[in-house]
Amino acid sequence: MLQQPMLEAINRQINAELYSAYLYLSMSSRFSALGLSGGANWMRVQAQEEMTHAARFYDHVVERNGEVKLTAIEEPPSVWPTAPAMFEDALDHERKVTGMIDALADLALELKDHASHNMLQWFIAEQVEEEASAEDMIQKLRLTEGAPGGLFQLDNEMAARVFVPPTPAN
Ligand code: FEO
Repeated sequence: MLQQPMLEAINRQINAELYSAYLYLSMSSRFSALGLSGGANWMRVQAQEEMTHAARFYDHVVERNGEVKLTAIEEPPSVWPTAPAMFEDALDHERKVTGMIDALADLALELKDHASHNMLQWFIAEQVEEEASAEDMIQKLRLTEGAPGGLFQLDNEMAARVFVPPTPAN
């Protein structure tokens, strides 16, 4: 059974993960409007991943006999001046999420909730990847500044990203 402070914190995290999906879907829409379908695909895949993050927390609550409480999802921004600006925002957002996951892990230790602490280890590793992939895209986009051909090539690279549904192993 989940203790009340952990239940409330995970319910807030479910909202944050759903907001992340909303944010990336909004970025996908913006990429489409800029005519960059590869970037739109990359962000769409990211939004799908965020939905699986929410589901992972959701399942943990249900498995521990808690009750998920869904709350309103904030409206995300919808306009960014450039593609790099979007990824800068994505990186800021992921750093914020990393802080939230770390705080959840701290709370799990404080409550001696080892099952939650164990579940959170997956997210701690995932956040390292999330930040690294946003940083990687920012660096690559910077390299294309003033070189539309490079942006075209990078867009093709972003088009190749594929959503991989989670399995117990990944
Ligand atoms: Fe669910 Fe991008 O962190």
